[in-house]
This record gives sequence, structure tokens and C-alpha cells, in this order.
Amino acid sequence: MRKCRSRHVLCVAFCLFLIVLFEHGEGVNDEGLTLLEFVKGVDDPVGVFAGWNVADPSPCNWTGVSCDANGQVMKLALPNSKLSGHISAGLSGLQHLKILSLSQNSFIGSIPSDILSITSLWKLNLSRNEFSGIIPKGSLPSLRMLDLSKNAVSGSIPSELFQSCGKLRYVSLANNQLVGSIPSSIGTCPKLVGFDFSANKLQGAIPRDIGNLPSLLYLSLERNYLSGQLPRELGSCSSLQYLDLSGNLFFGEVPIELKGMSNLSILAMQENFFLGGIPAEVLYLPLLQYGNFSFNLFSGKMPAPFSSSCNSLQVLDISENNITGALPPTLSQCSMLKFVNISHNKLSSSLPANLGLLAALHTLDLSNNQLSGNLPAEIGDLNQLAVLRLGANAINGRIPPEIGKLELLQILDMESMKLEGSIPSALKNCQFLLEVNLSNNNLSGTIPEQMNNMTYLRSLQLDHNNISGSIPSQLGELYHLENLDLSFNGLTGEIPSSLGALKQLNHFNVSYNMLTGQIPRSGILQIFNSSSFIGNPGLCGLPLALQCGPFSAPPTVNQKRTRVLSVSAIVAITAAVIIAAGVVVVTLMSIRALKGQKTELFVYESAPPSPEAEIIIGKLVLFSKSIPSKYEDWEAGTKALLDKECVIGAGPLGTVFKATFDGGLSIAVKKLETLGRIKTQDDFEQEVGLLGNLKHKHIVTLQGYYWSSNMQLLLSDYVPNGSLFDHLHGRQPTLGWGRRFKIALGTARGLAYLHHDCKPRVLHFDIKSTNILLEEDFEPRISDFGLGKLLPMLDTYMSGRKFHNDLGYVAPELALQSSRLTEKCDVYSYGVVLLEMVTGRRPVENLDSDVIVLCEFVRSSFEEGRGSSCIDPALRSCPESEIMQVLKLGLVCTSQVPSRRPSMAEVVQVLELIKPTIDFREASS
Ligand SMILES: *[C@@H]1O[C@H](CO)[C@@H](O)[C@H](O)[C@H]1NC(C)=O
Ligand SMILES: *[C@@H]1O[C@H](CO)[C@@H](O)[C@H](O)[C@H]1NC(C)=O
Ligand SMILES: *[C@@H]1O[C@H](CO)[C@@H](O)[C@H](O)[C@H]1NC(C)=O
Ligand SMILES: *[C@@H]1O[C@H](CO)[C@@H](O)[C@H](O)[C@H]1NC(C)=O
Ligand SMILES: *[C@@H]1O[C@H](CO)[C@@H](O)[C@H](O)[C@H]1NC(C)=O
Ligand SMILES: *[C@@H]1O[C@H](CO)[C@@H](O)[C@H](O)[C@H]1NC(C)=O
Ligand SMILES: *[C@@H]1O[C@H](CO)[C@@H](O)[C@H](O)[C@H]1NC(C)=O
Repeated sequence: MRKCRSRHVLCVAFCLFLIVLFEHGEGVNDEGLTLLEFVKGVDDPVGVFAGWNVADPSPCNWTGVSCDANGQVMKLALPNSKLSGHISAGLSGLQHLKILSLSQNSFIGSIPSDILSITSLWKLNLSRNEFSGIIPKGSLPSLRMLDLSKNAVSGSIPSELFQSCGKLRYVSLANNQLVGSIPSSIGTCPKLVGFDFSANKLQGAIPRDIGNLPSLLYLSLERNYLSGQLPRELGSCSSLQYLDLSGNLFFGEVPIELKGMSNLSILAMQENFFLGGIPAEVLYLPLLQYGNFSFNLFSGKMPAPFSSSCNSLQVLDISENNITGALPPTLSQCSMLKFVNISHNKLSSSLPANLGLLAALHTLDLSNNQLSGNLPAEIGDLNQLAVLRLGANAINGRIPPEIGKLELLQILDMESMKLEGSIPSALKNCQFLLEVNLSNNNLSGTIPEQMNNMTYLRSLQLDHNNISGSIPSQLGELYHLENLDLSFNGLTGEIPSSLGALKQLNHFNVSYNMLTGQIPRSGILQIFNSSSFIGNPGLCGLPLALQCGPFSAPPTVNQKRTRVLSVSAIVAITAAVIIAAGVVVVTLMSIRALKGQKTELFVYESAPPSPEAEIIIGKLVLFSKSIPSKYEDWEAGTKALLDKECVIGAGPLGTVFKATFDGGLSIAVKKLETLGRIKTQDDFEQEVGLLGNLKHKHIVTLQGYYWSSNMQLLLSDYVPNGSLFDHLHGRQPTLGWGRRFKIALGTARGLAYLHHDCKPRVLHFDIKSTNILLEEDFEPRISDFGLGKLLPMLDTYMSGRKFHNDLGYVAPELALQSSRLTEKCDVYSYGVVLLEMVTGRRPVENLDSDVIVLCEFVRSSFEEGRGSSCIDPALRSCPESEIMQVLKLGLVCTSQVPSRRPSMAEVVQVLELIKPTIDFREASS
């Protein structure tokens, strides 16, 4: 005891000596040394560390460093300092550090796991760097705030992060590369006020435990791959003010329980697969200011506000859904509304007159609905209105002159309606108008002369009406005009030369009127080609080729496209040659009916030259009684194998023949050319035997099989109308949208049956348009299912150029030999088929030296907002919104990450919503 004590005293004395030494300028303390160690790995172009001097007694006066009362470093904050390089592991030497902020620099490498040993840490902000690697496992018991956003951190969110999170208030992991699911342990952080996991690749459902976070104010999960239904428990987050779930794969109805979020002011649910009605209790939450429900599958009537429930709502976006019925007159209660977009829905009946009560309204977009009736004069009371879009409805009658009261109006879109009468001259009062689109109506009368009052006008579209009179020369004073379309009217007189002064004009069309005289020679109009002027018999001069000038237009050259013999045609021809040479005569010897439906036949095969050397090598098994099992029938049937005429298809699995029995019944016989991973008869029989019991309207029933060491055959229903591929890419494409949709839905139902109703489930692994066969009435039937083990492995696909075309269907995870193959591979291929049907293009196209992969092409077009440009031109007159929904579904199905893809059951549900009852008249074209 004594001895110890004296040693202790000695030690204290030594320490004092050291401290004295340091105080006399011998160098910085340990924490200072730790910091200098940290500096070593960091590149500091602007000299932030210039004043970090090793001779200072302590680092407390260094830039970015603060100490507590005991002189210990409690804060290291160097945000936005142009630092780069790795963070050294040594920072754990700062055992009193509470705040570490290195945000907005360019640090790289992984986040050092020994940061987790700084248990004193309150705030850790490493946002806006280039950190990669995974989030280290472990937790910081004192941590209040964690910000790792805007890096390139990957891996999953470790559940340990929230293991002892008693103090945690805010976490942001936004804008990283995180995968996996949201750990339910986050529900154990009692003080959590907000978390932001947006813009990652997170999957799975929202954990129910989130309902245990009564203090939560802010929750953003936008732009992930989250799916499933919203948990009711979310409604228990009663303090929530901000909820962003947009851009995920959420599915199903919005739980009414969300009405529990009585403080919610921002609700963003757009771009998901939500369906059913929008609950009024949620839409009109008392404090909701912003609600975005657009781009979902919501249906039902537009919810009406109930007794004084709508006092806060300012922004309401329900566009691109399937909302029906009238606009509820009680909407006028929402007196704060500034922005309403319900375009691209199925609203009907007329606009309520009391719409005029929405005095704060700035934007009203009800375009692309089925609204009818007249425009109420009260629309003129919306005196804050800047954007009014009503185009593509069935609204009729006159444009009320009260429109002139909308003095702040900038955009007026009333195209494609049934408006009649003349353009009210009061429109001139709307002097801030930028765009006027009244095209495609029945408007008559003349173009008001005072249009020149709208000095800011950029676009004036009055085409496809019955407007008469001359073009007012005052239009030439609208110097900002970029687009002027007056085509398809009854305009007369000359084109005023004043129009030549419209320097900004880049689109001009006066075609199909009754204009006369010479096209103005000077000014801008000469840059347009003749199509802007044609259809006016009295018009002459350039750019029109003929009449008053001595000029002639250059002939237009139409380049002819050439076609090359398709790959699959070559394969078919080759295969037919091989089989014709190598065929054997098949004789049946004994038939044995087994219990149940199955029949087995033992077959003797013999090579034609030596009929006496017979040995039993073959076994024919028939699953159903509908196929003849008498020897004579089969003798005729199998002769088909000799006949090239009977070749009806070929693929990586083998050649398909049509065999017709005497009674007229036909079956398809597939001669397998490859056995993939299957080598023995037992394996083969086991694999194929399972498939014999499967029956569904949309799959090709397997009728039986034949095994011998020489030859393996699969016998199945003969489907008469060729494959989807033939009809899409054949010489005469025959598929209208109704048929394509029918095929999409039937195929989805067939696959859903294989995936969900079969026990054990059956995976296809080779879905493509050549495997989707069509009945006479275009009902699809999936063939070649469940043959995964017979398929050549992917590397064979890769090396065999002849199957290059199939590659476009192969899910990316199939390229990773190690990854587990699930039904999501089929969903991917199915998605490619959807895109193939929407675009009419092949999954992979070789254009000169360019290889175009369909789903990449569609995805990038879609992301650039040009999705509709991908639609097959042959579908031009079909309902674009439906086609776009199917296109989007195709994109979701072809997500790179398997878990982001929906299940086939979900696909069926979505398709049924997109077009619930197929109209048979439509489907027959
Ligand atoms: C920090 O600087 C101030 C004056 O600039 C000085 O008074 C103080 O002693 C310094 N503290 C330390 C710990 O070096
Ligand atoms: C982290 O730092 C960045 C930039 O310096 C800042 O914008 C952000 O708000 C900080 N994070 C938190 C959660 O305070
Ligand atoms: C809603 O917000 C108000 C005002 O900020 C606050 O007093 C109230 O406690 C909040 N309600 C809930 C359930 O958190
Ligand atoms: C609603 O979401 C859609 C889709 O993300 C977006 O385009 C639109 O601008 C949003 N509406 C509003 C009013 O913010
Ligand atoms: C309304 O929504 C549609 C579809 O989302 C969009 O195209 C349109 O621009 C929106 N209207 C306004 C005025 O923002
Ligand atoms: C346009 O018309 C309005 C109302 O008649 C008038 O007050 C305004 O001065 C005119 N503006 C121009 C540029 O002519
Ligand atoms: C939209 O709703 C109408 C009426 O309820 C229904 O007939 C139609 O099929 C629905 N369409 C979609 C795409 O949900």
C-alpha cells in the first residue's frame, strides 16, 4: 500500500514536470499533436492550417478549433475550406470533441470507424464531400446530429447506428448510394425530430416502428426504391410537419390513419403507385399547405372539403391520376389556394361558378379532363390568376368577355375544346399575356385588332378554327412573338408585310387558309419553308415554289430503308437442315396407362439402315388424355420431324415443329438442342414432370415429353397465331393498342400464375416476345416456362452472337454468377417486353456501329422528359396517357435493382387499373 502510494506521488511529480516543460515552449499538447497528425493526410490549398503551429502550447487558438473551459478541444469545424485527402484514423485522440464538421470539402476514402470511439461527440457533419465505402457499424451515445448527406457512401444503413440513440435529434444520409432497408431500430430514438434518407437506393417497406417517434417533425424518403403499403402507424407521428415519400414504389391505398398527422404542412406523395381514393381527411388536413399527389393511380371522386377543413391549403397537385366526377363546389372554402393542378384526370361536368371565390388563385390547370358545360363568367373574378389551362376538355360555348378582367394572366390555354363565337376583344386587357392557345375549337369571327396591346406575347396559336377576316397588321408589333400559328382557318387577304419584323419568330404557320397575294419578300418570313404557307390557293412567291416568282423549290429526297434477313430466320433455316439429316425412325412398342392422367409409352428408336438392332432407349410420357396415344396416330405425327415445312420456330432451346394428327389436332413438338445443366434422364424427368400439372389460360400447356439419349422432345399445345415478336416486328405489324394491352395483361396474369400460384413456384428465365404465343383472338400464352435448367448458362448467351437479340431481355443480376436468381429476373424480362410493345422496337438494335439497348434508351428519353417520343408511331392515335402508364410500368419492371421491381401480382393489379375492362371492339384491332 505504501509502496504504491509513493510510486503514485512520483508519477504525479513527473507529469507536473512535463507540463512545466510544455508551458515553457517545448511544444503543443497531445490534442494538438493529434490535430497535427490529422493535417498530415490533408491537402490544404488555401492554407487553413497555416497558423497551426507546433510550438503553440495548445491548439485552442488554431483556425477551426475551439476548446472548453478546461482547455480541451471540443470543436473542430472546417466547413467549406477546400480541403481534400483522407481523414486519418487518429482523430479518436480528441476525447472531448463534441462537434466535428468537415462539410463541403473534398475528402475521399471511407469514414474512419474510430470516429465511433469519440463517445463525446454531439454533432458530426461530413456532408458534401466525396466519402465512399460503408457507414461504420456502431453508435455514438451522445450524438445529437449526424449529417453524411451528399457523399458516395454505399452499403446498407447499419442497424447499430440507432442502438443507443437516446439523444439523437437529426440524421441525414441523403444523396448517397445506400441500399438495403430502413432499419427498424430507428423507431427506438425517442428524441428524433427529423431524418432524411432521400435520394438513395433504399428498398423495402417503411418500418412500422416509425410510429413510435412522437417528436418527429421532418421525414424525407423521396427518390428511393421503397415499396409496399404505407404503414398505418405513420399516422401516429402526430407532430410531423414535413413528409416526402415521392418517387418511390409505394403501392396500395393511403391509410386513413394518416389523418392523425394533424400538424402536417407539406405532403409529397407523387410518383408512386398509390391507388384508391385520396382520403378527404388527409387531403384537407387542417394545417396542410402543400399536397402533391400527382403521377399515381388514384381514382374515385375529387374529395370535397368538409366543414371549414380547408384553411391552409395553398398548393394542390393531383395531376396524372384517374380522378373522376365534378370539381366539388365546396372547394371554394379553400380560400388560400394559389396553385391547383388536376390536369390529366377524368374530371367531368361543368366548372362550378363559385370557383371565382378562390381569390388567391395564381395557377389553375384542369387541362386533359372531360369537363363540359360553359365557362362561367365568374372566372373573371380570379383576379390574381396568371396561368389558366383548360385545354383538352369538352367545355363549350363562348369565351366570356370577363376573361378580360384577368389582368395578370400570362398563360391562357383553351385548346382542343368546343368553344365557339369570336375571340373577345376584351382579351386585349390581359396585357401581360405570354402564351395564348385557342387552337382546335370552333371559334369564328375575326382576330381582334387590339392584340398589339399584349406586348409580351411569345406564342399565339389560333389554328384549327373557323376564324375569318384578314390578319391584322398590328400583329407585326408583337416583337416578342416566337410562335404564330394561324393555320386551318378561313383567313383572307394578304399576309401583312409588318410580320416580317417579328425577329424572334421561330415557328410560323398560315397554311390552309384563303390567303392571297405575294408572301412578303423582306424580313423573317422567308426563313420558313413552304409547309408554313401551303393550302392557300391564292398565295404565291417564295418560299412557295410556284406562281408569282421565277423560282423552283428543290425536290425532297426520300431515303429508302433496306432490310436485312433477320437473325432468327437464319437460325431457323440452319436448324431445319440439321434435323432433316439426323432424324431417326420412331416406333412405339408398348403403352402403359399410369394412375391419374399420365400415360407412358416406351419407344424403340432405330437408325433407318439397321431396323433389327433395336434397343429400348426412349420413353414418351403424356400428361393429358387429349393427345392420342395409339401407335398409328403417333406414326403420322412424328413424321413431321422429317418435314422442314413443319418447322414453326427455333430458339436457344431448340427447333419447334408442328405435328398434326389424323383427327386434325395439332401439337407443337420442341426438339431440344441443349440440356443446360441437366445431364441425366432422372433430372430431366423430374424437371419436366413438375410442369405437366400446370394449367392456365395464359400459359402453353405441356402435354408430354420424350426422352432418349439421342433426342429429347417436349410436346405442348399448338398456338396458331405466331408469336408476339412476329406481330410486332414482322413484315406487317398488326397490333393496335387494344391488342397490345390485352397481350400485356394476359402475359402478366400467366406469369403471376407461375410465380405465385404454383407450388413450388415456377420461374421462367426466358421471357421474350418470341416466347409469347398468340391465339386467334390474340390472347397470349407463355411458352417455354420452367425450363431454366435446360437453358444454356448466360456466358453461352454472351458468346453466342446469334442470341445477341435475347440479351436485351436478361436482367443485370443474371450477369453476376454469384447472385441469387429470383422471380424478379422474369419481371425484368417482362418489363422489356412491355417496352417492346410500347415502342415497337426490338430489345437490342444494331444501327450501323451503334448498339441501342431498348430499356436504356427509353429510360434516358424518359428522364429527359421525352418519354412520349418513344411511343411506336403506329400507336399515334391511341390514348397516350395509358400508353405512358404502361411505359412507366415497363421502366419500373426493368429497374436495375431486383427488389425495386414489382411482383407480377402487383403488375397485374396496376395493369387492371390502367385499363380495367378491355373493350373487345378495341381489342380486336
Ligand atoms: C489565445 O490567444 C489569446 C490572444 O490572442 C491569448 O491571450 C491566449 O492566451 C491564447 N490562448 C492559448 C490557450 O494559447
Ligand atoms: C452540415 O454542414 C452543411 C454545410 O456546411 C450545412 O449546410 C448543413 O446544414 C449541416 N448539417 C446540419 C444537419 O446542420
Ligand atoms: C402542433 O404544433 C403546435 C404549434 O407548433 C404545437 O403546439 C402542438 O403541440 C403540435 N401538435 C402536436 C401533436 O405535436
Ligand atoms: C408535383 O410533383 C410532380 C412530379 O414530381 C412535379 O413535376 C410537380 O412540379 C409537383 N407539383 C408541385 C406543385 O410542386
Ligand atoms: C400540371 O401537371 C401536368 C402533369 O404533371 C404538367 O405537365 C403541367 O405542366 C402542370 N401544370 C402547371 C401549370 O404546372
Ligand atoms: C393596353 O390596354 C390597357 C387597357 O385597355 C391599357 O391600360 C394599357 O395602357 C394598354 N397597354 C398598351 C401597351 O397599349
Ligand atoms: C378511372 O376511373 C373510371 C371511373 O371510375 C374507370 O372507369 C376507369 O377504368 C379508371 N381508369 C383507371 C386508369 O384507373
